[in-house]
Amino acid sequence: MPAKIPAPLCRKLERAARTAAKASYSPYSKFRVGAAILTGSGKIYSGTNVENASYGLCNCAERTAIFTAVAAGEKSVKAVAVYTPTKLAHAPCGSCRQVINEFGPAALVISVCNSTDRHETTLARLLPDAFGLRSLKSRR
Ligand code: THU
Repeated sequence: MPAKIPAPLCRKLERAARTAAKASYSPYSKFRVGAAILTGSGKIYSGTNVENASYGLCNCAERTAIFTAVAAGEKSVKAVAVYTPTKLAHAPCGSCRQVINEFGPAALVISVCNSTDRHETTLARLLPDAFGLRSLKSRR
């Protein structure tokens, strides 16, 4: 079960994701994504997508936010908000789901966009039967 996050805190996380998109470095896709995560310690970290002329090196907004939090000493993710510059809300990509799983297997995942469309789900629903630390530990 994902932790119950009070609605005002969810709104704050969504605002942080929208704001983060303004710093997007996306000259190739021109698709400005923003993300914000709520950590176990109650702090919010945000991130944006950072692209590269070597396209495969592009880093998504969600991963930028998580890596920033981990670099600051955080180890758990309670909730993730992602903003995409679209008419409909979109959930994080597969790679980001896997990275969210590492730190927040029970995380709440909120998607917002340019309209009032909004999705709220859980990482467990987005990435069922995830491969994680426990999978490695089950080696025999
Ligand atoms: N992108 C994200 O930042 N997050 C996602 O979940 C999906 C895609 C970025 C990567 C790339 O810079 C641009 O959006 C187009 O795919």
